[in-house]
Amino acid sequence: MQVTITVNGLPYTREVEPRLLLVHFLRDELNLTGTHWGCDTSNCGVCTVQLDGVPVKSCTVLAVMADGHEVTTVEGLERDGELDAVQKGFMECHGLQCGFCTPGMLLTARWLLDREPHPDEGTIREAISGQLCRCTGYENIVKSIQRAAEL
Ligand code: FES
Ligand code: FES
Repeated sequence: MQVTITVNGLPYTREVEPRLLLVHFLRDELNLTGTHWGCDTSNCGVCTVQLDGVPVKSCTVLAVMADGHEVTTVEGLERDGELDAVQKGFMECHGLQCGFCTPGMLLTARWLLDREPHPDEGTIREAISGQLCRCTGYENIVKSIQRAAEL
């Protein structure tokens, strides 16, 4: 099937198998490897991207379901050489540990701050509750999102 998906503002048209997952479309067809692939069972959240501005687990979305829609990946957060506030927050507060969960955390954080610019700690923790960080904990991730809200 032919699909046209706008990714980070640019349209991409490709022939894909109907079973192709969005995560593999992004990584293998477009070489956007910032979107990670972990459990493949909709549990870990490392594959999170925004689909029409809403965080989704791209391992549970078929590429054909994104046909005609807009996807934002971690590569699309930086604008004109300027890091997004969530990227700056993670950098300043050491929210990035091994980095495997980070792209998905950043996209969920961006979505949260777009809806709620000054969320409290509980709201932040709930927003990222669909994403697992295997490294140590969520303390610095929460601090990073709070810092991004200040920025
Ligand atoms: S790879 Fe998608 S939720 Fe784990
Ligand atoms: S930073 Fe390592 S999994 Fe979250």
